[in-house]
Amino acid sequence: MQGGKNNVIAIDGPAASGKSSVSSKISDKTGYLHVNSGLMYRAFTWSILRSGIDLNNSDSVVGHLHSINIECGQIDGNSTLTVDGLDPGIELKSSEVNANVSLISAIEEVRTLLVSKQRDYLNISNIVMEGRDIGSVVFPETPYKFYIDASAEVRAKRRMAEGGLDDLKKRDKIDASRKISPLIIPDDAFVIDTSKMNLEQVVLEVLNELKARGLVTV
Ligand code: DC
Repeated sequence: MQGGKNNVIAIDGPAASGKSSVSSKISDKTGYLHVNSGLMYRAFTWSILRSGIDLNNSDSVVGHLHSINIECGQIDGNSTLTVDGLDPGIELKSSEVNANVSLISAIEEVRTLLVSKQRDYLNISNIVMEGRDIGSVVFPETPYKFYIDASAEVRAKRRMAEGGLDDLKKRDKIDASRKISPLIIPDDAFVIDTSKMNLEQVVLEVLNELKARGLVTV
C-alpha cells in the first residue's frame, strides 16, 4: 500500500452523487480522516477567481498556481485547507466556483500539484478520500474502491435542495472527457447506484463491502 501502513478508502463518482455524505459517515464509522479532494480543486479555482486573471489563459493560471501556497493538513481529526493562510470556507461552494472548477481541474500542472498533496495525507493517517480519480490515479493500489452514482435527475434534485447554481451536466461532461485523469469507473471498484437508496442504506452497503474486502477495523 502507498504510504506504508495506512489504508485508503477511495470514493469516486460524478457531481452531487452523495459522495461527501457517504464519505463523512464512513469516516465516522472507521475513524479514518475524511479528505474531500474536490475542495482542493475548488480552493485553487476560488483563488484564481479572486486574482482576476484570465481563466482561459493556462499560462497565467499555472503561474498563479506557483505563486500561492495551498496548505492541506488536519486538526483534531478534521482535514483542513488554506490558501495563503486563508480558509475560503463556504465560498468554495459558490455558483462562480461551480461554473469554473471543471475547466481549471483539467489543467495538468494543477492536477500534478494537488494529487501530490492528496498522496501526502497517507503519510499522516488512514483516510477516506472522495473525488473523481482517487481509485484510478491517486491511489490505484488500494483494494477499497467505491463508485457512488445516481441518476442525473436525482443528482440535480439533491443539488437544488442544497441551493446555488450548478450545471452538473456540463461539469460531468468536462470531468469525464478531459485528457488527464478523467472520471472513470475502475474495474475493481464496487459500484452503488444510490438513486433509490437513503444515506443509511448506502453506508451499510459500503461497510459490508469493506468487510468483504477484508478491512479489519470495520
Ligand atoms: O467533488 P466536487 O463536485 O466538489 O468537485 C469539484 C470539481 O473538482 C469537479 O467538478 C472536478 C474536480 N475534481 C477533480 O477533477 N478530481 C477530483 N479528484 C476531485 C474533484
